[in-house]
Amino acid sequence: MATTADTDAMRRAIALAARALGATSPNPVVGCVILDAAGQPAGEGFHRRAGGPHAEIHALNAAGDRARGGTAYVTLEPCDHTGRTGPCSRALAEAGIARVVYAVGDPNPQATGGAGTLRAAGVQVEQGLLAEEAEAGNAAWLASVRLGRPYVLWKYAATLDGRIAAADTTSRWITSAESRADVHRLRAEADAVVVGSGTARADDPHLAVRGVDGAVQPLRVVVDTEATAVRPGARVLDGAAPTLIAVADDADTTHLKAAGPGDEPVDVVRLPRAEHGLSVPALLAALHTRGVRSVLLEGGPTLAGAFVAAGAVDKVVGYLAPVLLGAGPAVLGDAGITTIARALRLRMTETVRVGPDLRVTATPGDSPADSTTTAVPTSHKER
Ligand SMILES: NC(=O)c1ccc[n+]([C@@H]2O[C@H](COP(=O)([O-])OP(=O)(O)OC[C@H]3O[C@@H](n4cnc5c(N)ncnc54)[C@H](OP(=O)(O)O)[C@@H]3O)[C@@H](O)[C@H]2O)c1
Repeated sequence: MATTADTDAMRRAIALAARALGATSPNPVVGCVILDAAGQPAGEGFHRRAGGPHAEIHALNAAGDRARGGTAYVTLEPCDHTGRTGPCSRALAEAGIARVVYAVGDPNPQATGGAGTLRAAGVQVEQGLLAEEAEAGNAAWLASVRLGRPYVLWKYAATLDGRIAAADTTSRWITSAESRADVHRLRAEADAVVVGSGTARADDPHLAVRGVDGAVQPLRVVVDTEATAVRPGARVLDGAAPTLIAVADDADTTHLKAAGPGDEPVDVVRLPRAEHGLSVPALLAALHTRGVRSVLLEGGPTLAGAFVAAGAVDKVVGYLAPVLLGAGPAVLGDAGITTIARALRLRMTETVRVGPDLRVTATPGDSPADSTTTAVPTSHKER
């Protein structure tokens, strides 16, 4: 039975882990808190970047001798393998930790087994404390392990009547400055930000993170089949963040050879064509190979439709502005859905006011019967 001290320590570990969202791929975010034998805080830490020390090692270093006889609270099962760093299971046992409480088992076949090693070394091991909270904090990474492809969050900004641009294609700015700042937080938490060639042509977007302290810049990806939308001088080529242009196997990319910062070649990935544009599964596989575990899909509607059709949208975040346009492109293009029976039903998980706008979060899955009937309070969060 977990005590209040156990729960407080694990909650702190989960909060620590969240500080590194967007910075650790291809690794998960992990937090660790160590209480000494008397139950007093002795050390804490979190995994800051791939290749750097794991959370447990930071916490053990901070705790020093006070780790002996103490309890370590870890958001993910301590690893049992030697990668770029040594196994945390052994480090914990060697430091004399008497008890390890972890929230979520490690699904990664190469890293799992830490709990067994700890038990074999005589350490008391417990699993499952605040597992749901810890899983939510690592949702993208856990899903990427399960799916074998990056987790995809599709974000859009729309008017209340579901338009993402006016009939004359002008679209700046539909939503408020507060919503746009919130999007920079989503970018900071993602490993890659993806747009299609239509958006690149219409908006010349920058796609880097601004205004988020300590953010690791995501990979900026433009899906540009014919290699015609991203021209030398495009804002995505300014060097503020890494950039990748996805093109067809046979596209002519001569103009990108010296269009990067300092006249460097632009990073290009060649992919097979699909019926329209490029293959979405091939794109996601290529990103996964490059260590991308979470993608923020920023549109536009045509590419988003292709992702939905491919079953490759894991979460939707819509920013709805109290604005009406009456004409102009809709949020989502053709997703291969032609009849109501095939509609993609989502489960609403959060609705929050952001400045004058409403941010709606939903995930694919069965819709609970009551989800369409309740009035939306000013700020309402459910799990
Ligand atoms: N409010 C918002 O949230 C928001 C967000 C983004 C964009 N927008 C607006 O959306 C408009 C652009 O819309 P859009 O639909 O043309 O842009 P888009 O979805 O960014 O780009 C569509 C293009 O992507 C390429 N593509 C590559 N692979 C594809 C695939 N598998 N499936 C579909 N397309 C693929 C296709 O052109 P090629 O094959 O020729 O490369 C396609 O025409 C602009 O007005 C922009 O301002 C609004």
